[in-house]
Amino acid sequence: MRIDIITLFPELLSSPFEASILKRAIDANKVTVNFHNPRDYSNNKHKKVDDYPFGGGAGMVMTIEPIDLCLEHLKKTNDYDEIIYLTPDGEQLAQNVSNELSLKKNIIIICGHYKGIDQRVRDHLITREISIGDFVLSGGELAAAVLCDSIIRLIPGVIGDESSALTDSYQDGLLAPPIYTRPAKYKEWSVPEILTSGDTPKVDAWREEKALEKTQRLRPDLLNED
Ligand code: ADE
Repeated sequence: MRIDIITLFPELLSSPFEASILKRAIDANKVTVNFHNPRDYSNNKHKKVDDYPFGGGAGMVMTIEPIDLCLEHLKKTNDYDEIIYLTPDGEQLAQNVSNELSLKKNIIIICGHYKGIDQRVRDHLITREISIGDFVLSGGELAAAVLCDSIIRLIPGVIGDESSALTDSYQDGLLAPPIYTRPAKYKEWSVPEILTSGDTPKVDAWREEKALEKTQRLRPDLLNED
């Protein structure tokens, strides 16, 4: 998979890809992640990439031309399955969206900044708008890190234990059951006995029951979805 991220602040985005699972995925060539700065595509002599909104109002707006030129440049050498703009008024990110995107070959992610981006980018240049939640970030970079993490960990072979990503919360419409490791007793707190019994069918049944119970308690809305 190839992910191209268009951002004015690549430095905000570098460290998530330099450690742990994302770094491993990159080192194993499961994914390549490239940063592109619209400033490098600005024809303005001051490398300007924003301007005042037509009609007035507070805040600056990212201009269309540097983004369009950057997209043209990328599209010359690659075909893209999706061109995503990150914005708080987009489709809400959820596990099914990440699952779907993890199957794509090439995607572009555009990070907004300032007050937003010229509407014509949204109307003509992108294929999809995604929000990571009902709150406003200073820019799309942290949202891009979240989106990339949720996608990349699903690429086959990225997580060592193949079944691990499939047992995450939300994958089967339920929250994940509680999980424990050694020691079996710490202070006066013991691990549920069944988990140390070695009886796999019983353990599986216990996990299913706990997942259901936890979902009922914390996220009953998940059980009412079709
Ligand atoms: N940019 C600013 N806020 C955002 C959000 N909540 N989701 C995605 N992109 C954003």
